[in-house]
Amino acid sequence: MVSRVIPVDPFDLVIFGGTGDLAIGKILPALFRRWRAGQIPEDARVIGAARADLDDDSYRALVAGALAPEVGAGGDLDGFLGILEYRRIDVGEAAGWPDLAARLAGSGDRVQAFYFSVAPGLYGALAERLQAHGLAGAGTRVVVEKPFGSDLASARTLNRDLAAHFDEGQIYRIDHYLGKETVQNLMAVRFGNMLFEPLWNSQYVDHIQITVAETVGVGGRGAYYDGAGAMRDMVQNHLMQLLCLIAMEPPARFAPDELRDEKLKVIRALDPVLPHHIVRGQYEQEGDGYRAAVGNPRSRTESYIALKTHISNWRWAGTPFYLRTGKRLVARSSVINVMFKDAPHSIFGAEAGRHANVLSIRLQPNEGITLKVTIKEPGPGGMRLVDVPLDMSFAEALAAEDHDRPDAYERLIMDVIRGNQTLFMRGDEVEAAWAWTDPIIAGWEARGDVPKPYDNGSTGPGDAELLMQRDGRRWQGIKP
Ligand code: NDP
Ligand code: BG6
Repeated sequence: MVSRVIPVDPFDLVIFGGTGDLAIGKILPALFRRWRAGQIPEDARVIGAARADLDDDSYRALVAGALAPEVGAGGDLDGFLGILEYRRIDVGEAAGWPDLAARLAGSGDRVQAFYFSVAPGLYGALAERLQAHGLAGAGTRVVVEKPFGSDLASARTLNRDLAAHFDEGQIYRIDHYLGKETVQNLMAVRFGNMLFEPLWNSQYVDHIQITVAETVGVGGRGAYYDGAGAMRDMVQNHLMQLLCLIAMEPPARFAPDELRDEKLKVIRALDPVLPHHIVRGQYEQEGDGYRAAVGNPRSRTESYIALKTHISNWRWAGTPFYLRTGKRLVARSSVINVMFKDAPHSIFGAEAGRHANVLSIRLQPNEGITLKVTIKEPGPGGMRLVDVPLDMSFAEALAAEDHDRPDAYERLIMDVIRGNQTLFMRGDEVEAAWAWTDPIIAGWEARGDVPKPYDNGSTGPGDAELLMQRDGRRWQGIKP
């Protein structure tokens, strides 16, 4: 496949929290891969900033160590390290800022972006400092991470703090799922084909299942996770975005506000979730369960959630959406299953069997699409029907070069530099998602809800199966 890498314009990117887990584990490797692909110009500058007592050389050494696994695949590491600098800055203190401002002064119309890779509690102070040091001009862009707040009130506060210094068009709120190639493919599948869209409504779709299953646990993020849980960590953002892309009306153009307006309408049309339509779970295993991982023997935080919701609009009224996500499940598998209704009448009689079509969109791993279709079972013995998969793997079908398939952070950071907000969340969208999530969490708290235990390596708590069975349905299997 022919390379389509188009270099971006020269830029300055300051990463506050440049020594942290996200910067070292995701942002800098992503930048290195874009450098290696030839997308980052040699006069770009990437400045890490944090409180640690480092200088340019020791920061480069730190980053070089972290990039060692990447370098195995080749690439000009020294060249990349050459565009890196370090500034010692404490967001809460005045020192270091004048030096940073001087370094960035006189850049003309170069893109200047500030990545807030620090705790959200520092966003307001950071925005104020940028303003105070003349670094919040009209062309400045700021990048903020999820979690964007922990409820509607805190999200509003963050939005207000940022809005005091930046226009909405300057704020890039990351949900890294939107940067995944296969998530963008949801839109290509829906709106690039005539085949699916006419059937994409409650007349033909029985229900939709969205599964994001992980095998990993909470890793080293126990303290954060135990305060968040699967609802805040995954459902309010990643699963919500998937739901929006599957359910939204076609935007007139693939452009930031057109797309985000349509997503917002979906979120605002979501019904409140009834308490008996939610199952919360917590994985357990002798000595290695969730509670041990987070160091909280009485934790009531969920590491698994399954729920049923409805979208009250003309397209989807009557079609339930089932969402589930969890840690330490049997396999890593993110997949959306569009479960079509049975054909209205079988001309082959009851003995031939009835089969409904299923469109499975696999987001990760083994990205691709499978359409389950019904055919005649070969051989004599009358007309018996069987399901067979029409299976397409993106990797096999496209055989693209690595640099043509950037990972989520590569794509999103380059979009920041290009000034394209299409794959970033708008402030009102995040607030609407919290407005739907808050009453669900408040309900658990009021009832003192305790998550159901499930085995490490299983498909989740048995009650999640019951949620489906009560509706005469069942989950599709969680397969790698
Ligand atoms: P870490 O705790 O690993 O890193 C925090 C960084 O901020 C460090 O570089 C730290 O360096 C710096 N820092 C802390 N306080 C200050 C301060 N007062 N002034 C300047 N720098 C400061 O956090 P993560 O990297 O994991 O997370 C960063 C953000 O990204 C958080 O909002 C998190 O929720 C979010 N996020 C993280 C993900 C991940 O994979 N880690 C995934 C998704 C979102 P020093 O102590 O030297 O100042
Ligand atoms: C993060 C969550 O946003 O997404 C993690 O905080 C989760 O808990 C991760 O593991 C999943 O991302 P991915 O890209 O591995 O599916």
